[in-house]
Amino acid sequence: MSDQQFDVIIIGGGPGGYVAAIRAAQLGLKTACVDAFIGKDGKPALGGTCLNVGCIPSKAMLDSSKQFHNLTHTFNDHGISADNAAIDVGVMVGRKDKIVKQFTGGISMLFKGNKVTPYAGWGKLLPNRRVEVTAHDGSTQLLAATNIILATGSVPIELPFAKFDGEYIVDNAGALDFASVPKRLGVIGAGVIGLELGSVWKRLGAEVTVVEAMPDFLAAADADVAKLAKREFDKQGLKILLGAKCSKSEIKNAEVHLTWTDKDGEKTQAFDKLLVAVGRRACTQKLLADGTGVALDERGRIIVDEHNWTGAEGVWGVGDCVRGPMLAHKASEEGIAVAEIIAGKPGHVNLDTVPWVIYTEPEVSWVGKTEQQLKADGVPYKIGTFPFAAIGRAVAMNEPAGMVKVIAHAETDRLLGVHMVGACVSELIHEAVVAMEFHGSAEDLARICHAHPTLSEAVHEAALAVDKRAIHKAN
Ligand code: FAD
Ligand code: NAI
Repeated sequence: MSDQQFDVIIIGGGPGGYVAAIRAAQLGLKTACVDAFIGKDGKPALGGTCLNVGCIPSKAMLDSSKQFHNLTHTFNDHGISADNAAIDVGVMVGRKDKIVKQFTGGISMLFKGNKVTPYAGWGKLLPNRRVEVTAHDGSTQLLAATNIILATGSVPIELPFAKFDGEYIVDNAGALDFASVPKRLGVIGAGVIGLELGSVWKRLGAEVTVVEAMPDFLAAADADVAKLAKREFDKQGLKILLGAKCSKSEIKNAEVHLTWTDKDGEKTQAFDKLLVAVGRRACTQKLLADGTGVALDERGRIIVDEHNWTGAEGVWGVGDCVRGPMLAHKASEEGIAVAEIIAGKPGHVNLDTVPWVIYTEPEVSWVGKTEQQLKADGVPYKIGTFPFAAIGRAVAMNEPAGMVKVIAHAETDRLLGVHMVGACVSELIHEAVVAMEFHGSAEDLARICHAHPTLSEAVHEAALAVDKRAIHKAN
């Protein structure tokens, strides 16, 4: 039997793969997408980590928990009170599952509409751009294409002394599905997942302790922003232990006993649940047969050049399984760029302007370089900052925490980085992304008329502050 032939086969149906598939099909290419993910209902589900156990379900749970937290903590400030506020975790998780199903099902519909052929099962790249698909029933099938896009994403890193058991020690998927609020939740890793999912359960009433090995909090973020965010998390009672190295975990009496060492010595604490969120690794095991010409780096990521080409004829890599930040929007942009390159168009992703957002309360976002990176690189810079406490809209919303920090080149005024912590900064950051994509300056932002009263006035004022001419604060 001859192989089923396509113009493009994509292995992986997450935001890298499914977006690449839709774009390739839009461009008239005969496209297939092979994905192995099985949803909570035991059926194949497109959308990868992002839609099934990542971006979307975590934001659904963040929103539910925020509503409860506001009802029990901040509505009183507005003169609103409600007696007997209660949580039904089952309903909350059910709502999240419904949203996930709506969006994963939506991708199936988009595939149908765009004539992308889906294959449910494991894809393995063979030499000469052939793909072996092992379906969930164990049957195999061979496909071939002129171009293959590897978009296999990432999986959580497991610690040898705290292996996931799905009951007491969980990964992100487990921590999105607790049946009730754990009384004591331990989290290993104060990274993005630890902070977001730690916040969810803290807001719902858990006592949350986050144990982080590094001495600095959120080392990837600008230090001023990280400091301010930490202060707010401390106020919320999110206990974050820095410089604490975990070495052992033990399950006894239906509790996880976690041991770590910090500057004060060794400590063991008992938790009802333990979330391990110490980073993710590229999902590239059992993906490549011998002789494909595709190479992996020391972290198991597919090696690609600046155009996402692996160096093997017609084989490309996008998203979490290649270098660069592990973010859904970065994966999607790479998927689009590669589909366009395959179709003979120019395709490019500027990794320097990929925005980062942490959906905590307050939110944290940034684009470009941090002050500490610029210092280390010896780049001359100037800074403007502005606090949300001086922004009328933020105060009216009862969300005065946080600030905007604009960093521009000391000589050319070109924007080098914009960092924010505060309400809705997940949305505000895009003004900075657009400005930086257009090679804008702090002066450009400063000269743009911003609507009053909005949170975006903090961006305007911070840009003015770069030249010491902010209006609503002393310069
Ligand atoms: P994935 O989404 O991981 O998809 C890869 C797909 O390929 C999966 O379905 C996998 O099963 C499948 N696959 C793997 N190997 C094979 C194979 N050999 N054959 C067939 N199928 C295969 N990013 C953001 O930008 N914003 C957020 O708010 C955000 N929140 C997150 C929250 C959590 C809890 C987590 C865990 C991640 C979050 N991320 C977020 C990161 C984001 O989910 C990833 O960056 C994104 O999903 C990467 O997309 P991808 O397509 O590269 O891979
Ligand atoms: P992370 O890399 O963000 O954070 C992991 C943290 O664990 C780091 O601070 C690290 O120092 C710490 N750590 C590592 N080993 C440790 C150990 N043995 N003991 C204690 N601490 C240890 O990884 P995380 O949170 O697992 O998330 C993975 C990725 O998923 C993120 O980097 C991000 O790319 C993506 N993501 C993005 C989100 C967003 O965009 N809002 C939300 C959630 C995840």
